[in-house]
Amino acid sequence: MGGITVTEEKLIKLFNSMTLEEKLGELWQPMNRVYDENGVLTYIDVKANYSKEDIYRSGSTLNLFGTDRLRAVQDDHVKNNPHHIPLLYMADIIHGYATVFPNPIAQSCSFDLELIKESARVTAKESTLAGINVTFFPMIDIVRDPRWGRVVESAGEDPYLAYSVCRALVEGLQGDGLDKPYTMAACVKHFAGYGAAEGGRDYNTVELTENTLRNVYLWGYKGGIDADAAMIMTSYNEMGGIPSTCNKHLFRDILRDEWGYKGVVITDLFALSSMATHGIGDDSEEDDTDYLYRSLAEKAMTAGIDIEMGSHHYKKLALSVAEGKLDEKLIDEACLRWLKLKNKLGLFENPYRFTDDEKAKDVMLCDEHKDVARRLAAESCVLLKNEENILPLGRQSGKIAMIGPFVESERLNGSWVIHVADSVRTLRTVTEQRCSDLEICFAKGCSALGREQARESKRFGYTDEEHREEMIREAVEIARSVDTVVLTLGEISEQAGEAKSRSNICIPDVQLELFDRVYEVNKKIVVLLYNGRPLDISYINDRAKAILDVWYLGTMMNDAVVDLLLGEKMPSGKLSMSFPKTVAQIPVYYNHLRTDHRVEPYWSEYIDDCNSEPLYPFGYGLTYTELSYGETAVDKTHFKTDETVTVSCDIANLGDRDCTETAELYITDRFASVARPVKELKGFKRVYIPAGKTVTVTFEINIEMLKYYNENNEYVADPGSFYVKIARDSGFDEGKEMTRIFLTKD
Ligand code: BGC
Repeated sequence: MGGITVTEEKLIKLFNSMTLEEKLGELWQPMNRVYDENGVLTYIDVKANYSKEDIYRSGSTLNLFGTDRLRAVQDDHVKNNPHHIPLLYMADIIHGYATVFPNPIAQSCSFDLELIKESARVTAKESTLAGINVTFFPMIDIVRDPRWGRVVESAGEDPYLAYSVCRALVEGLQGDGLDKPYTMAACVKHFAGYGAAEGGRDYNTVELTENTLRNVYLWGYKGGIDADAAMIMTSYNEMGGIPSTCNKHLFRDILRDEWGYKGVVITDLFALSSMATHGIGDDSEEDDTDYLYRSLAEKAMTAGIDIEMGSHHYKKLALSVAEGKLDEKLIDEACLRWLKLKNKLGLFENPYRFTDDEKAKDVMLCDEHKDVARRLAAESCVLLKNEENILPLGRQSGKIAMIGPFVESERLNGSWVIHVADSVRTLRTVTEQRCSDLEICFAKGCSALGREQARESKRFGYTDEEHREEMIREAVEIARSVDTVVLTLGEISEQAGEAKSRSNICIPDVQLELFDRVYEVNKKIVVLLYNGRPLDISYINDRAKAILDVWYLGTMMNDAVVDLLLGEKMPSGKLSMSFPKTVAQIPVYYNHLRTDHRVEPYWSEYIDDCNSEPLYPFGYGLTYTELSYGETAVDKTHFKTDETVTVSCDIANLGDRDCTETAELYITDRFASVARPVKELKGFKRVYIPAGKTVTVTFEINIEMLKYYNENNEYVADPGSFYVKIARDSGFDEGKEMTRIFLTKD
């Protein structure tokens, strides 16, 4: 069993015996296509600028799967590497290996940090048994624009939630230390600001002031760094004209010097080369690309980037050192950090670490793991509306029809599940099995994408059925004959993810046509919403009786959805990202700054025609019982920097069902040296509230929770007044409905 490390002395001895070329080799991660499916180094990429010898010197691989293949590659590599240094297997295991968990955006809606951590533990166990020891996860870019496709991989719009989720995930993956069984190294990504891409267009320009970067965007990554994440990845974007992959200020000043980070930094895939696309680098009269890319490699190494993923330019740095253009010390530091990580993972003692096919048979997708997936899936769903308590379904629902393109879909794992096929049990299969006492019939109604989305339909293999009218008519007839309709609508999972930016985030036309036609004959409609990002759902929101956002939930998706539909579990998810009223309103997020005149009716009418209220705000989510929040009480109104304020609130469950509620603590800093958000989430607690009972939720406010980066980017709390409130969601009137506390001068 792995986990044993060689002594520091032995490691240094090895390091000292390496040539500069060998050290640079370790810092390169080639693409998996250099090996064939049997793990034989075939070096297929004949046009590439590397030799077989270069590959034997490389330090890691990307997205190579299959234990036989991994063993074959490792055997060959260890034999042929000049120092017999094993490879480190890295992969994008984003939300589960064999057991697939909800997409990260959905998971974050659970606000259940323990369960999220547990899911990461399961992922680490399954991945390490399969031979993978580093995952390029968590992706924790804060995002305020749902058009950006990578929303699906993120924890949404809020710095505090993102911080907490990232921390929990890294703790789950890395356990009590990388020398412990079935732990894997986490690589937090994409540092930094990638989620702020202009217009939500992936890889696009980012313009952030240092102050906004610090007060908002860096918090997610910081959660991972505080949990000791072994690695961090650069991002594709530039910011203020400087690509992250050569941003010395980000990586040296903030990450290493301010945050004291000791781990390994890796580029995003080919991000070193793509700096040239940004127009960065030194060119030459002869248009010498070697010269150009060498200048980029120098910039990246100088910025503190240790490993180069995909492209192969660090090799050129030997010449830079010889020419006196780069201090060799930087390469030494990078290589030593890297070898230390390999050693921490125990690779020198056992290159196969926890790889174990026999054990894997019992562990992959075992009941215990499926149970975690099912609980997290149920907790990830968000009940957006439920008029007349139409949900949960039961005998009172009468005859039920389940209609829509997702009723029989198995493609429910969502983005970034790259080594297992989509094969989730369909909603129909699970419903038929579990609801035998209810009268339920089914119809597809339409294809998920219609001829209006011709390009996407073709790309993802959805045909606009020739029988569109026939299918809709059949569904309408069924809808007419039942009491309640469950309509499955939304975007397909392939529409969210990397490079999947969308300017139109409405429900596809063909599905809206189905909705309208069903609505003509039956108004009792429950919508199950499938999505990898907040969508523009205003049209159906005005008409449907209930909407349950079910996202993409992975392996146990439909078991969890049926748990909620039947009321066997209570919905408890809260939105980690606001839903806009219309696309043109984007970006719309709860923690915006205060602006002049916004509150005056006369002006706001002229400023815009739909104000800054979202359709559903951050933190919003209902359940199947009525809750009532009391006033927010404080134990003192004035306090000093070394004191804490206890804030509390009574939450009454007025209904006859027990529930779990996430109570959210918001704070507003009234006056500061820079404009501060109208409110900010500073704490949350999931509390169990039995039917008919009242529980008191308390939070302790300390000075750390009041700090922010001021006009000089110093992290401080200014004396003065703050408003606090424990609330159900972020959609309350700031100031007016909050309680005032005062931080006095010491
Ligand atoms: C993505 C990263 C990912 C990498 C390796 C890139 O395109 O931006 O998130 O980890 O590919 O697959």
